[in-house]
Amino acid sequence: MSSRKTIIAGNWKMHKTRAEAAELAKAIVDGIKGQHELPEIVLCPPFTCLVDVKAAVGSARIAVGAQNMEHRDSGAFTGEISPSMIKDVGATYIVIGHSERRQYYGETNSTVNLKLKSALHHKLIPIVCVGESLDEREADLTDSVVSRQVGAALADLSKDELAPLVVAYEPIWAIGTGKICDSKEANRVAAMIRSTINELYHGTSFGDTVPVLYGGSVKASTIEEQMKQPDIDGALVGGASLKAEEFLPIIAGGAKRVQLATSNK
Ligand code: PGA
Repeated sequence: MSSRKTIIAGNWKMHKTRAEAAELAKAIVDGIKGQHELPEIVLCPPFTCLVDVKAAVGSARIAVGAQNMEHRDSGAFTGEISPSMIKDVGATYIVIGHSERRQYYGETNSTVNLKLKSALHHKLIPIVCVGESLDEREADLTDSVVSRQVGAALADLSKDELAPLVVAYEPIWAIGTGKICDSKEANRVAAMIRSTINELYHGTSFGDTVPVLYGGSVKASTIEEQMKQPDIDGALVGGASLKAEEFLPIIAGGAKRVQLATSNK
């Protein structure tokens, strides 16, 4: 088991009012009380709930993240939210290039690169999402698509600048569909992402230090197998992060991985 951080992140997408979000965050805080060996827990509510979720988690070991941002810092960009605004509400993580952003809002590998640069500049921890469509998988293009996404996202950034990087491998066909990517296959792609990063940084082992999460229909019933995989360091969870009773067992799955890593030291 590696010394990489284990991260369990909940992407609440466009769900929850402020009161509902605070209630869910409080239930998660209550659910982890008294536990010491926990994964890094990250809650990513809609922008409108960030302040409430931050307040609800209080001093608990739970980080808060945003699901998207504009890469520029201020200006005439109607409807956008800047990195400094996200930091201002106490969020420390930012999800970048989620497939729904790429699919419905025209995000491309180059906008992902701009956002990643901006996130790093503003000291937000980036979770960069990559993953292939069903057509791409069926055409045997998974590795080329994913490695291209990784290469484009990281363009012009040094490994020192990229130190906080987290990558999430999220096969698009597995998101919100209940279709799970087989854990061994997800592990293979996670390892491929890591070796792509090593190649990009010319034979360094930088990729070996980058946490790679899996996302796509993660549930309490799948997390144990996923967390046994040596190259999967956690999960980015959509649907199953919306209810404490479903998300807490996923956190517990991440905690087991942490315990195993500690006992192997
Ligand atoms: P899902 O979403 O867990 O509902 O499949 C994952 C994601 O989109 O990050």
